[in-house]
Amino acid sequence: MSSTVTITRQDGIAVVTIDNPPVNAVGQAVRQGLWDAVPVLEEDASVQAVVLACAGRTFIAGADIREFDGGSMQPWLPDLVERIHASSKPWIAALHGTVLGGGLETALGCHCRIADSRTKVGLPEVALGILPGAGGTQRAPRLTGAAAAVQLVTTGAPISAAQAMEVGLVDRLSDDLTADAMTFARDVAGKPVPRLDPAPAQTDLTADDWDKLRAEVAKKARGQISPVRAFDSVRNAFTMDLADGMKAEREIFLELKETDQSKALRHAFFAERAVGKPAALKSGTPRDIAQLAVIGGGLMGSGIATAAISAGYPTTIVEQSAEAAQAAQDRVAGNLASAVKRGKITEATRDATLALLTTTDDFNAVATADLIIEAVFEETDVKRAVFDKLAATARPDAILATNTSYIDPTSFTAQVPNPERIMGLHFFSPAHIMRLVEVVKTPDTHPDVLATGFVMAKKMRKVAVLSGICDGFIGNRILGAYGRMAGYLLEDGASAAQIDGAMKAFGMPMGPFEMFDMAGLQIGYANRKREAATRDPNRRYSRIPDLIVEDGATGQKTGRGFYRYEAGNRAALPSPETDALIAAERAAQGITPRDFTDAQIVAMLHAVQVNEAAMILAEGVAERPLDIDVVKMMGYGYPRWRGGPMQQADAYGTAQVLATMQAIADADPASWQVAPLLREVGVQNSPFAARNK
Ligand code: CAA
Repeated sequence: MSSTVTITRQDGIAVVTIDNPPVNAVGQAVRQGLWDAVPVLEEDASVQAVVLACAGRTFIAGADIREFDGGSMQPWLPDLVERIHASSKPWIAALHGTVLGGGLETALGCHCRIADSRTKVGLPEVALGILPGAGGTQRAPRLTGAAAAVQLVTTGAPISAAQAMEVGLVDRLSDDLTADAMTFARDVAGKPVPRLDPAPAQTDLTADDWDKLRAEVAKKARGQISPVRAFDSVRNAFTMDLADGMKAEREIFLELKETDQSKALRHAFFAERAVGKPAALKSGTPRDIAQLAVIGGGLMGSGIATAAISAGYPTTIVEQSAEAAQAAQDRVAGNLASAVKRGKITEATRDATLALLTTTDDFNAVATADLIIEAVFEETDVKRAVFDKLAATARPDAILATNTSYIDPTSFTAQVPNPERIMGLHFFSPAHIMRLVEVVKTPDTHPDVLATGFVMAKKMRKVAVLSGICDGFIGNRILGAYGRMAGYLLEDGASAAQIDGAMKAFGMPMGPFEMFDMAGLQIGYANRKREAATRDPNRRYSRIPDLIVEDGATGQKTGRGFYRYEAGNRAALPSPETDALIAAERAAQGITPRDFTDAQIVAMLHAVQVNEAAMILAEGVAERPLDIDVVKMMGYGYPRWRGGPMQQADAYGTAQVLATMQAIADADPASWQVAPLLREVGVQNSPFAARNK
């Protein structure tokens, strides 16, 4: 017997315990241990029933995802689940924690299931680009019927133990799992073993209904294939017997496992965890934060404060006047009210959370704070004025963070004593909802300060990514290259609608021009005016966005930008005025409009992002390619099933990305240079992933 699986016996009941930290993933050693346990228990006449339980924080949380890239190691999970199910003695799965994927499938192979009432169960495989491949799509529908099975398998969202009981996945709930599982075992010992009916499951759904449901799943999946194929497998449960359904499920599983989408989604899973462990953090010890202050209670500041109090931090918002402080209070209350409305929190939680907030117009309130986040207007002078005051008022050891999205923190904090306590925390708007935070390290920032930023972000249920200093940090700097290329493509002849359509077909939630219109064109306009003096005069400059703003159109809010909008409607409609303006500007610049294919547009917009990212890596602004991928996926809507721009570069082949970038640079060498690192990897067609170590 393996050390991860042990058997104990008590009054005719055997307890099989899996102990494979951290999450009892059903890797090869666990599978082998269970495989060997089944005949031992079959042959042991003293055993009348078997309880399958797990030590530690959870029942099996799934297959071991790390094994997916190696060859399959026997025994395979479907065979193991079948072996348990074929046992002549009843097996009772005792569930706690997060019973996910292969964990739930193992439990479904058992004959009875009892769950601690706090348990969550689910089949999240679609989020890894696969489907439940150990009978989940066949056994779950036979227990729950079509609707719940389709929901579980195609969304991957877990459900509570009570819901699992309601739909038939679980037989009993418990608040004393160890004792109640033994009672359950005694209740069923010696009785006929309950088994699933292998005949096709029953449903009222017609072929037409199934087709409609499939179309809905495909629409929601927006290009991701696993939910649709998982749906097909569930449907098989209603037309095939169990053995045929399992065979078909296995074939789809193997087909999906090899896709670029599944590889990208697995990369996303591990990358989202690895970003929390950058090398720069290794020597850092997080400090305790008992009191937080946020300077500025506008949209950003109140969003940050909402996230802070929701994470349990007592927080004070400091504003410039009593009215502004009240407005900030109202904004935070509004954010929490909408969380109640969406069913995210209860009214009682809202009240307890709001009790952690104070708002004031007295700057001296920062004197007791352990961590202070400046979230005022994105203007160097405005920020410097705040840091002047902080230098005088904050405790000398208080951590000072600036929520800047572009500006170098050292350009407005030089006057502050103890610069090792200063960092950037770039939240994304709306800050109480968006999960990404860039933690910006200045040359002075102490590792303890960075570690504190990471811990705080985690408590806020955010994903923190470490960034060095550069204009726009990781995310917005890459966005800059993307926007610039999109602007050139527009001036050269592609329409905004074609470019946006191509990027949406690629999987982005919106295209660049819809995004610009939504954000408002005036901020970029003001930035460009400010930077005009320092801009490289040789680099191509497309005046189109400036001309649109000067024509009185600033995007969605004013009803016109790159597109036209009808009142109260966000749908982007063609704007004849903007189109005429673009045509006139092309003529003025002597540009004869060219045709681009959608594939060219996607390849060019991808290549310039990877090229910029390669510079960011070489400069050490990002430690690893995976940091860049997570920033783009969590902050900019990059499709998870593409795994981020660097993972996508590996899927295309870096040689191909280099060729595209080289062609862009050859056509306009004043505006684009191939990043040396992209050249280095592209020449060998080696993957960026090799640099994720
Ligand atoms: N395989 C391998 N490692 C896993 C894992 C898995 N299934 N699930 C979690 N881990 C690892 C994580 O990578 C992490 O490792 P590090 O500490 O080295 O970073 C560690 O376990 C703890 O994970 P989290 O930090 O995510 O801990 P958490 O408490 O926040 O969440 C969890 C726990 C809810 C189980 C979450 O980890 C999770 O959702 N895991 C994935 C579950 C899943 O997708 N299961 C289905 C697998 S596919 C399958 O089962 C296919 C099949 O049908 C055959």
